[in-house]
Amino acid sequence: MNNIGIVRAHTNIALIKYWGKRNNKLFLPMNSSLSLTLDAFYTDTKVTLSDTYDKDSFYLDNVKQDANETEKITNFLNLFREAANIKTKAKIESYNHVPTAAGLASSASAFAALAGAMNIAAGLNLDKQTLSTFARRGSGSATRSIYGGLVEWTMGYNDVSDSSFAIPVDNADWNIGMLVIAINKQQKKLSSRIGMQQTVDTSPFYPAWVKCAKNDLTAIKKAIADKDFIAMGEITEANGMKMHGTMLGAVPPISYWEPDSVKAIQKVKDIRDMGIPCYVTMDAGPNVKVLCRQTYIEKIRDLLLTEFKPEQLISSRVGSGIIELSEA
Ligand code: DP6
Repeated sequence: MNNIGIVRAHTNIALIKYWGKRNNKLFLPMNSSLSLTLDAFYTDTKVTLSDTYDKDSFYLDNVKQDANETEKITNFLNLFREAANIKTKAKIESYNHVPTAAGLASSASAFAALAGAMNIAAGLNLDKQTLSTFARRGSGSATRSIYGGLVEWTMGYNDVSDSSFAIPVDNADWNIGMLVIAINKQQKKLSSRIGMQQTVDTSPFYPAWVKCAKNDLTAIKKAIADKDFIAMGEITEANGMKMHGTMLGAVPPISYWEPDSVKAIQKVKDIRDMGIPCYVTMDAGPNVKVLCRQTYIEKIRDLLLTEFKPEQLISSRVGSGIIELSEA
C-alpha cells in the first residue's frame, strides 16, 4: 500500500448555487448546482498514513491545528478508513494558495484535496465520481472541485448517498474567466453551513428557491451546450441574487453583503452597459465574483481600478480537476 498521497484541488464558484441540505449527516442537497473551477485558488494536501502515529494530526500552512479542527478531519478520514478497512492514523499537511487579500479560504478545495490525497494514501483507487461523493461529506461544494471546468453536482434521490455526485459538464475552454473583487478578508460571521440551515428552516421563500434553482440549472446547461455566454451570465447573476433574496427572508434575516459589495455590483453593471459582457455572483460573504470573457478580464480589471485597489482584484482562468503531485 502506498501510504502517502499528495493532491492539489482548485476551488470552485457556483453559477447555480447550493443552499440547503435535505440530509445533514450525508450532505445531500435540496437542489442540484453547477460551478466553474478556478485556477487561481487551490489547496495542496499531503496525507501520510503510518502505524507509528497514535492519533491524527493536522497542519494548515505549517500551523498545527487544535483538537476541534482535527476532530472534523478525523471524522472525514474515518469514511475512507471504513472503506479501506484500516485503522491507521494520519498526518495531514495542507497549504492554501489563496491571495491573502481575497479571504477565499475555501472548504471546497480543502476537502477535495484531502479526499484525493487520502484516496491515494489508503490505496482505495476510487474513481472520480465515487471520490466526489466522499468529498461531499466534508463540505458540499467540495463535491464539484474534483473536476475542472464547468461541473454539475447532481442532487441524487432520497437518502441515497451514492446518487449525489459531480459530473463534468464542459471544459469551459471557450474564453471564460472570472475576476474576484475582494471586499473583505475577515472570516465570515455566519458560516454557510449555519446560514443555509437557518434559511431552509425559516425562509418562506425557500420552496420558491428550490423550484427556481431547478429551472435555472436546466437553462444554464442549455446555454453552456450552445456556448451562449450572455445567457450563461444572465442566468448566473439572477440565480445568485435569488439565493441572497431567499436568505433575506430567513428569521432572523441573513445578509452577507457590505456597502462595497453593492458598489462592486453597480460598477460591473456600468461596465456591462459599456458593451462588455460581465455578470456578478456572490456566495456566503461580501466578495463579488465577476463572470466574464477571459479576453476582457484585464480591461474589466482596469475599469474597476477606479473604485478598488489592485490587490483587491484577482483574475482567474478556468481551473483543472484534482491533480496528483509528487514530493517536492
Ligand atoms: C454559497 O459547501 O461551504 O458557496 O456543505 O455546509 O460545507 P457545507 O457548505 P458549503 O456551502 C457553499 C455555499 C455557497 C454556494 C455554492 O458553493 O454552491
